[in-house]
Order: sequence, then structure tokens, then C-alpha cells
Amino acid sequence: MPPSKYAFFVTGTDTEIGKTLISAALLYSLAQAGIKAAAMKPVAAGIEVRDGVRINEDIALLREQAGGALPEKEMTPYLWDEPIAPHIAAQKHGVVMQSDVIRRAYLATAQRAEAVIVEGVGGFCVPLSAHENMADVAVALDLPVVMVVGLRLGCISHALLTAQAIRSRGLTLAGWVANVVDPTMPYRDENIQTLRDAIEAPCLGCVPRLDNPSAKLAAGYLDLSPLEIKIKDT
Ligand SMILES: Nc1ncnc2c1ncn2[C@@H]1O[C@H](COP(=O)(O)OP(=O)(O)O)[C@@H](O)[C@H]1O
Ligand SMILES: [Mg+2]
Repeated sequence: MPPSKYAFFVTGTDTEIGKTLISAALLYSLAQAGIKAAAMKPVAAGIEVRDGVRINEDIALLREQAGGALPEKEMTPYLWDEPIAPHIAAQKHGVVMQSDVIRRAYLATAQRAEAVIVEGVGGFCVPLSAHENMADVAVALDLPVVMVVGLRLGCISHALLTAQAIRSRGLTLAGWVANVVDPTMPYRDENIQTLRDAIEAPCLGCVPRLDNPSAKLAAGYLDLSPLEIKIKDT
């Protein structure tokens, strides 16, 4: 019987809005709480070569905050070189990405950690293939979802659509985080209040625009106490 786990699927209102930063902050907080956490970025697209080493920035950042060794294929079953829509990258390589492959990697990861943070790719409904999308992955893993809202003009509709999509798939929205993407956004507090009123899940915090963003700094703006009730057996 595997141990109880804190396990969450982190999605967001878009790409480049702070999913990795908040996932890293969750991993940091779990480590601070003495919980051995693993990270997954099951689908990633975009490789750069740094000092002769091929790296994907999300994977590198998550790996930094996660405890223990994370086998590459298990952490990221699907890694593509080009920073493009992953299903198109897969198509170019004649691969049909499958949520079941991700599910098996997740189950292996979950055996070895007390907590698993799974960062999605892009927004909630990014396609995996002609047949499946990232929402299907969240369903296949049967995980409560943490939604990162990238605060900028237009984010309210994106946030509400995402919350609706999460619920329509029978998943729990465990909480959401407001992350400032556009520091010049007018009426920021009013926008956050509108989100608080409209989203039927706890706000886990508001992260301002940080000069030197880090998992530790972002974690300082989060209150993860509402997530304690989401301990899952896997
Ligand atoms: N609150 C913030 N303050 C400063 N920089 C941020 C903040 N949130 C995200 N960033 C930066 O914005 C970029 C995109 O964030 P990231 O977490 O990678 O987004 P996503 O995973 O949604 O694509 C990164 O360079 C990250 O460091
Ligand atoms: Mg990311």
C-alpha cells in the first residue's frame, strides 16, 4: 500500500504566467515542512544548450527544488527540443503522446515520494494528440488542481474558463494563486477581489512581481494550509 501523498497538478491561465515558479514554491514549502516531494513535468518543449549541456529550464528549476533523484524519463516522459505546441513536436517525430504513459510514470514517481507536484504545459487544454489533452492527463492522474492566474488584463475570463474546465472534468480545484505578470496592471486589487468572489476555491496567495524570482521568495507569499485537506492515497 503506497503512503498518503500530497499530490497536485499545477495548471495556469496561459504559458509564461508562473506555473513553474509556483510549482517550485510548492516544492520548496513541502521540503520546508519535511515532506519528501518529487516533481514531474510530464510534457515539456524547448531545449537550450548551456555550457554544452542540453537543458529545459522548467525541468532544471523543478529538479532544483525536488528532493532525491528523479529519473529523467519518469519526470518527463515527453521532452521535445523545439519550443512549440508539444503535439506538433510529437507529430514531427511520429509520436502520439498518451496520458496512460504519463500515468504510469506518475505511479512510479508516487511510490518513491511523499508528495508529487506535476506541472502541466501551457494552459489546461493544451493538446497531447488529436485524441487527448492536458486535462485528460489531470484526469488520468486523478489529482486535485492548483491553478496559477497570471495577473494581467484579460486574466479574469481565462481564470474562470480554466476553473470551469477543471470542474467539468470532475476534478477538484484545490486552490489558486494570483501571480503578477504585468506590474502596471491598473486596478490590480479590484481584479484580485473579483477573482476571489468568482472562483469557488481558496486563494493560496498573491505573488507580486519579484526582482529576483525564486522558489523561496514566492513561497513566502503563499499560505498552503488549505491544501492540507487534500491529502490523497494513490
Ligand atoms: N511573480 C513573478 N515575479 C517576477 N518574475 C516572475 C514572476 N512569475 C514568473 N516570473 C518569471 O516569468 C517567467 C515565466 O514564469 P514561469 O514560472 O516559467 O511560467 P510558466 O511555467 O507558466 O510558463 C520566468 O522567467 C519567471 O521567472
Ligand atoms: Mg513552466
